[in-house]
Amino acid sequence: MTMSLNASTPNGAFNGINRKKIETVDDVIRGAEEHNAVPLWPQMVKFNPPQPNPKCVPQIWRYDEVRPYLARAGELVKEKDAERRVLMLINSQREGPYTTDTLYAGLQLVMPNETAPAHRHTAFAMRFIIEGNGGFTAIHGKRIQMNHGDVILTPTWNWHDHGKDGSGPMIWLDALDLPLFQFFPVHFVEHFKEKRYPAEDVNAEESPIVFPWARMRKELDGVGGDWAKKEYRRADGGYVSKTLNPSAERINSHKSTPIRRETTSCVYHVISGSGESRIGEKVLGWKKSDTFCVPSWYPYQHTAGGGETVYLYRFDDKPMIEALGFYVEEGPNGVVRDENKL
Ligand SMILES: [Fe+2]
Repeated sequence: MTMSLNASTPNGAFNGINRKKIETVDDVIRGAEEHNAVPLWPQMVKFNPPQPNPKCVPQIWRYDEVRPYLARAGELVKEKDAERRVLMLINSQREGPYTTDTLYAGLQLVMPNETAPAHRHTAFAMRFIIEGNGGFTAIHGKRIQMNHGDVILTPTWNWHDHGKDGSGPMIWLDALDLPLFQFFPVHFVEHFKEKRYPAEDVNAEESPIVFPWARMRKELDGVGGDWAKKEYRRADGGYVSKTLNPSAERINSHKSTPIRRETTSCVYHVISGSGESRIGEKVLGWKKSDTFCVPSWYPYQHTAGGGETVYLYRFDDKPMIEALGFYVEEGPNGVVRDENKL
């Protein structure tokens, strides 16, 4: 017996299985829906927009406004009730761990004599240290002291716990690739049997997973011009991660960066100084310890205020965007785009 693909007559008289008449477009839509199939053509532009269409919007999280709630959480939420005492920085246009559509940032607090217990996970994490003394993070047996402005990596699937000696809180900005796991349900998280994974002290200056601020600042100051940008890279020149890319920028007092836009989204954190950023139609004023985001393909420009040189920390999703062939940049040098010419 041969099977025919043309199960209906030219007038679409009948579906061969349930014998329903399929005469009009409406019959097609309603009938197909009953079988979990829907027409693409009415939604063609939605799924194939002429340019990137991020859901997230430019947004700022002012440290002065958020910090009191984090500090109070340090008193009210006990160590045993929060594996990680974090306020997630959530974009107003999304629900879930989205600071941008692809990046997650959160402010984490550890109080004296506390331990954020050891775990490991698929997600890649980085910390930018904002305030406090005596804090440490232990990553797969290496205990590292946290110092203001340092960037500390937690590579995928390494046991890590955080702790704090001495007085006062320790606060840092977490950067993770958590939104990815909303797309790819491939995230593993494992908890260690003890609160702390056995660790020895290591010198931050010699560790490949620590980037001291003093070193990066010197590099930025060594570049000429009113704006300088440097990425934190591995010793062999590669990205520090397959997903996230940290960098830092210097902007001299009263000067502006070029207007740029990229298919990467990014999160900025103000290391020092004050100023404002125009992102799309929005102008966000900022000062030390504020955090703000730039969604994909929004034109943006930073302008430093007076009196003090501005230093910014930034992380973006360039390694993965680039690896997938999605990277496009538009700036003073025109458009840079990955093209796969045959
Ligand atoms: Fe973690």
